[in-house]
Amino acid sequence: MRLLVATRNAGKKREYERLLEGLSLELVTLDDLGIDLEVAETGDTFAANALLKAAGYAEASGLPTLADDSGLEVDALGGAPGVRSARYADEAGGASDEDRYRLLLTNLQGVPEEERTARFRCVIAVSWPDGGVDTAVGAVEGRIAEAPRGAHGFGYDPVFYLPEFGRTMAELGPEVKNRISHRARAALAIRPAIARRVE
Ligand code: IMP
Repeated sequence: MRLLVATRNAGKKREYERLLEGLSLELVTLDDLGIDLEVAETGDTFAANALLKAAGYAEASGLPTLADDSGLEVDALGGAPGVRSARYADEAGGASDEDRYRLLLTNLQGVPEEERTARFRCVIAVSWPDGGVDTAVGAVEGRIAEAPRGAHGFGYDPVFYLPEFGRTMAELGPEVKNRISHRARAALAIRPAIARRVE
C-alpha cells in the first residue's frame, strides 16, 4: 500500500521508513507526488494540527496519509512553546534553532532544576480514504538544562536533558534518539492501526 507521509523533510521520511519497517508500505512524500499545497497549522493542540494536515493532504492526494505534529512543552512556562515550538522567537522572522533555545533559557532564568521539567510530544494522525482516522501520541520526559550541550539532532535538542542518560538529547547519537524519541514512541503506537489496514 502507498502511504503519503505529509512532510517535505527527506530525513523524516527515512525515519518513518525505519519505524514502520516490516509493514507492506511504500512511503511517498509531498515532493514525491509534486503536491505544493500548504495546509496551515491553525490548531491549538498537536492533535488538532496533525489531524488538519492528515485530512488536508489525504484530500489533495487521494492516498492514505500520515501527518505528525510535535514540539516541546515546558511546565514552568505553562506548556510553552508547545504548538508554537517552530515559531518561538520568530516574531520578526528568520529566527534560528539557536535563537529559540536561547530565548527558552532566558525565559527560564532563575527557575530551579526541579522545576525545569519538560517533554517533547508528538501526535501522529493517519487519514484513510474511507474517512477513518487513527491517532497516536508519544512523549519523552526530561528537563531544560542551564546551558546547551551536544551537536547531534536539531531544534531544542541541545537544551533537553535526559536524567536517565545524564546527557542532553543533542549528546545522544541518532540511534539512541530514534529509539526513545517522542516520534519513535508515537510511531510504535500507530503501527498496529496501520498494520490492520495493510492486511
Ligand atoms: P514538527 O512538528 O516535527 O515540525 O516540529 C515542530 C518544532 O518542534 C520543531 O521545529 C522543533 O523546534 C521542535 N521539535 C520537534 N521535534 C523535535 C526534536 O526531536 N528535537 C528538538 N526539537 C524538536
